[in-house]
Amino acid sequence: MPNPLLLAAARSERIRGLVTSVPLTRGVVDRFVAGEDLDAATRTVRELTGAGLRVTLDHLGEDTTDRAQAEATRDAYLAMFGAFAGEGLARDADASVKLSALGQALDEGLALDNARAICAAASEAGMTVTLDMEDHTTVDSTLEILGKLRADFPWVGVAIQAMLRRTEGDLRDLAHEGSRVRLVKGAYAEPEAVAFQAKAEIDRAYLRGLRTLMAGAGYPMIGSHDPRMIDIARALADRAGRSADSYEFQMLYGIRAAEQRRLAETHRMRVYVPYGGDWYGYFMRRLAERPANLAFFLRSFVSR
Ligand code: FDA
Repeated sequence: MPNPLLLAAARSERIRGLVTSVPLTRGVVDRFVAGEDLDAATRTVRELTGAGLRVTLDHLGEDTTDRAQAEATRDAYLAMFGAFAGEGLARDADASVKLSALGQALDEGLALDNARAICAAASEAGMTVTLDMEDHTTVDSTLEILGKLRADFPWVGVAIQAMLRRTEGDLRDLAHEGSRVRLVKGAYAEPEAVAFQAKAEIDRAYLRGLRTLMAGAGYPMIGSHDPRMIDIARALADRAGRSADSYEFQMLYGIRAAEQRRLAETHRMRVYVPYGGDWYGYFMRRLAERPANLAFFLRSFVSR
């Protein structure tokens, strides 16, 4: 399961200062992040879409309590939609949005207004939007904002975390026609009262979630690199008589890249592409998911 110490470090300003001040970190970050600016993201998207993959773009940032910063994040998404529409990259493309980066903790109304502006601009560009899910304290608020956004933009999707005990009920509510749901295992440190802790339990919850979504009338997005989950999702889709365009797989940029390309030959496969300067929290969650990543990171220091 994700390393709790690293997840705590992901929220520590002191450790952020340490990690981000070391120039060598950059090389390791590049494995998971497309680059610091829109040009770098555009290059990555061109390469991925050229190989038959779809994309969802995440302008990195989270947990802001500063109105100006929340609006700057909104504007970064608007700039991205404009650029993608202009460059012919918007077709089938999606944007992943963290409401905490749009001011959710400061003022839910502000986050909703910013998210609305993002959805309107995405719609104009011909793109869709999916709300990322953050720690469990934000789930009610995120689902409420989702409901309000969907009144005007019914294609807005959401990530749902299998590790949360409440998720079975949320998935049942969301498995309706037109609903786009990305099922993920969950990347945050959560207390036992609200979340399964053991990998086996989380995997079982993920399988239950897959069954609900595949049997439902919505559009399931399978956000996992786990080969077992992917195989089972395909079998469930076949059993439910789903066509290949009625669901999709999603993986993170830099993780199992060869498998992403292989899956794209037969299925809809979307890559989550993060870009921007505020990569610290995202990067630390990727280290926390896999001890080998941390070892790779530490080796890059000692091998110099
Ligand atoms: P698991 O962790 O069991 O890994 C299965 C295999 O995948 C590993 O054995 C390894 O081969 C590979 N792998 C997994 N993680 C790796 C890593 N970091 N580095 C290298 N290899 C790795 N979470 C969340 O809480 N809210 C969200 O909104 C999202 N959004 C999201 C979007 C998309 C498209 C994906 C794919 C994932 C997310 N996540 C997320 C993250 C998710 O919750 C989860 O932490 C990771 O996907 C890892 O879980 P797996 O399902 O891949 O399985």
